[in-house]
Amino acid sequence: MLYDFHCHILPGIDDGSPNLQTSRKMLEMEKKDGVGKIVLTPHFYLDQKSLARFLDDRAGAIEQLQPVADELGIELKFGAEVRYTKSLLDQELDKLCISGTNYMLIEMPFERLTDRFINEFKTFAGSIFPDIQLILAHAERYLLFTSEESVYRIMENDMLVQLNCGDFGALSRSRKFMFELLDHDLAHLLGTDCHNTSSRPPNMETARKVISKKISPHCFSHLMRNAEKVFAGEMI
Ligand SMILES: [Fe+2]
Repeated sequence: MLYDFHCHILPGIDDGSPNLQTSRKMLEMEKKDGVGKIVLTPHFYLDQKSLARFLDDRAGAIEQLQPVADELGIELKFGAEVRYTKSLLDQELDKLCISGTNYMLIEMPFERLTDRFINEFKTFAGSIFPDIQLILAHAERYLLFTSEESVYRIMENDMLVQLNCGDFGALSRSRKFMFELLDHDLAHLLGTDCHNTSSRPPNMETARKVISKKISPHCFSHLMRNAEKVFAGEMI
């Protein structure tokens, strides 16, 4: 049983699946790859939508998708990919956590992460820990905008770290960094971050193959054991 911790399969809520038909195809692709437990993580941008409105929209999308997941035998949990902003401190963050847990998936801005930003984030993370346990979304993606050192400094805030399955592909420029994290047990969870069935499809199989071949099958199993625990709301 495989776990996907980051995806945009919920229909019509963000730049992921536009409708239920696409969502169904995405779930079928997940199932083909052996994924049976999925955390749905639509984007949450506080500057674009209030928390109440986001939760309302998400509830509507869940209502549509749940029967399809039940039919396919896939277990869903609900969360969000929360874009960091200092104003999050005024929000009820437990409502953005993965259902039944205190884990929240958080995304950094796609820009150079300055010392000032890193210090501000450290204060934020320190003030919500341990009530809210942060998971850093796709740690490798920030390297397109900022230094490895700055990503390591963000990771130092008692966070779990999630990697995107697609970035294990042969053309990825982030593979070396991802292997380094896995080698040192600094990355904990995998997510497909799938948005559709074509350009950003469910791709757990890519990660399974590459990690098993380039590191070890044991490493992939270890990531899935982590996933099992976090899905159940346990510490790892
Ligand atoms: Fe995402």
